[in-house]
Amino acid sequence: INPNKVEFMISAVSDAQYPDTPLKEIALSGRSNVGKSSFINSVSGRKNIARISSKPGKTVTLNFYNMDEKFLFVDVPGYGYAKQSKKEREKWGKMIEAYLTDRKELSCVVQLIDIRHKPSEDDILMYDYLKHFEIPVIVVCTKSDKISKNKMPQHLKVIREDLELEETDQLIPFSSVDKKNLPQVMSAMSEFI
Ligand code: GTP
Ligand code: MG
Repeated sequence: INPNKVEFMISAVSDAQYPDTPLKEIALSGRSNVGKSSFINSVSGRKNIARISSKPGKTVTLNFYNMDEKFLFVDVPGYGYAKQSKKEREKWGKMIEAYLTDRKELSCVVQLIDIRHKPSEDDILMYDYLKHFEIPVIVVCTKSDKISKNKMPQHLKVIREDLELEETDQLIPFSSVDKKNLPQVMSAMSEFI
């Protein structure tokens, strides 16, 4: 990926606004504040192409990024943001559902989970939902710089067990701070572009 050829394309809320390109799309899903935008920046090699929120719940549209004409990243607004009203949550659900179930270009979802915590109910629901629709999933465990190396295997084990990951599903610890395992993440995604 050439950092200079990464471009923000559009913020969309419905399919009429989705960009029209022949490229495949990789969507990022995860709870609010898990590090989705930071992940996009890490893969881009750009500091600020995706806005990192000081306040959680900032991303409320599907944000499309052209990754050097190789694929598109789709930043999906985070779930589990407590301050959202019921009506906002419903709107969110409909928008995500429409994208995940109807979008032909979607080839894979990178689901981000904070490595420090057990997967939430929403994380498990999202994973099951993706499996139900047979959408390939790569699980990336973010903020790996925040736990010690010797605690890593146990945390990964808990996440794998709680999500009931299939053998073939990849689980990769990652940190946007030190970019550890960026090559592994790139190689996992390259299967889908
Ligand atoms: P929403 O758009 O609100 O859903 O959040 P997001 O998932 O896009 O998270 P974002 O990338 O904005 O990061 C949230 C906070 O976590 C920011 O303060 C980031 O700096 C921090 N953060 C993200 N990734 C990492 C990481 O790998 N390590 C550490 N230490 N902090 C991280
Ligand atoms: Mg974000």
